[in-house]
Order: sequence, then C-alpha cells, then structure tokens
Amino acid sequence: MTVNVPLRDYLRTRRSVGIGFLRDPGPTPEELEEIITMGVRVPDHGKFVPWRLVVYSGEARARAGQRLADIARRNRPELDEAGLDIERRQFLPAPVTIGVVFSPRPNPKAPEIEQLLSAGAVCFNLCNAAFAMGFAASWVTRWFAFDPEAQQALGARAGERFVGFIHIGTPSTVIEDRERPDISSIVTHWSE
Ligand SMILES: Cc1cc2nc3c(=O)[nH]c(=O)nc-3n(C[C@H](O)[C@H](O)[C@H](O)COP(=O)(O)O)c2cc1C
Repeated sequence: MTVNVPLRDYLRTRRSVGIGFLRDPGPTPEELEEIITMGVRVPDHGKFVPWRLVVYSGEARARAGQRLADIARRNRPELDEAGLDIERRQFLPAPVTIGVVFSPRPNPKAPEIEQLLSAGAVCFNLCNAAFAMGFAASWVTRWFAFDPEAQQALGARAGERFVGFIHIGTPSTVIEDRERPDISSIVTHWSE
C-alpha cells in the first residue's frame, strides 16, 4: 500500500475558513470551472444527478443580498438598518459562493435520503476542491436555506431546496483547529 502523503496530510489537517475571513482574489472563471468539475465528482446512487449549482459572483452577490434584505424587511419589520445591512452582505466578502440545490428525482432505485446525501457530498467536495485549487471555503446554510421565498429568490425552482452555500476565497488569516470528536467515543466494533 502506497500512502498518498499530500492527500493524507490534507485530510488530517483540513478545516473550513469562516466567511468573514474569505477575501479576494477568488477563483478565476477557469479555476471556478475546475473547482466545480472536481466538486460534483461524488457518489450518486442511480446516477440521477439530484443536484445543481447556482453561482453568485461579482456584482450579482450584492443583488442577491439585496433580495434577502427585502424579504427580511417584510418578514421582520423590527430589523433596523444595521440588521438589513447584515442581510445585504450575506454574499460578501467571499468573492464567490456556490449554492448547492437539492433537486430530487423520485425513483425507487435511490430513495430521497440517498439523493440528499449525494447533494451533501457535493457541498463538502466543493470545499475540498476549492482547497485543492489553493483557496479556502466554508459550507454554510443560514436562514435563507430554510425560507421558501428566499430560496426561490436565490434560484431554487419548485420542488427544490438549497442544502448549502459554499463560500470560496483567499483566507485572510490562519484558522486554529477546532475540537474534534474522540474517535473512541464514536466508534464501536460490532462483535455480536
Ligand atoms: C449543513 C451545514 C450547515 C452549516 N451552516 C452553518 C451556518 O449557517 N452558519 C455557520 O456559522 N456555520 C455553519 N456550518 C458550519 C460551518 O461549515 C463550520 O465552518 C464548520 O463546522 C467547520 O468545520 P470544519 O473546519 O471541520 O470544516 C454548517 C455546516 C454544515 C455541515
């Protein structure tokens, strides 16, 4: 067995970088295409491709944020200007965000939960692909991944929902690791 040292070291140490620490430069269009090509290379029982992606980049990020602020203003009239500004900035400062849309294809061959898991795999694999291309990333949902009106405003169609927003950019700081589970507390060796 030959150990793939760079891959092993990456998997041992990988971690997300929060949206607030993602800056320019972001991926070029060619790099983004590469990230997406690698990112969607995931297990997919039945090959139904039960997911698709929506990219927010450039000035579209501010327009997406404004849509969220408009919805938030209607639903939460108590929000002040500072609160609305948080919504306007949801897709800033990360230079690129990829929304992962779960698009179920009803079929007995692959129950919906398996299709959903495949969409989750896309989310995490996009993070890994971003790191492979020299960037940092974070998988985030936030309220608008659960609000039907906001999801539609951000590009989800009938019957679809967002399962993650993958924010990608250059890290502005080195993030310390967070606590990881002790594997002895989560692993049992079945021996009945
Ligand atoms: C499905 C999902 C949704 C998440 N949504 C949020 C979120 O809305 N806000 C947040 O601060 N972190 C959210 N996180 C957590 C971030 O990804 C966080 O950066 C992560 O726990 C860091 O772990 P890592 O360093 O091992 O990648 C979410 C994680 C997952 C898996």
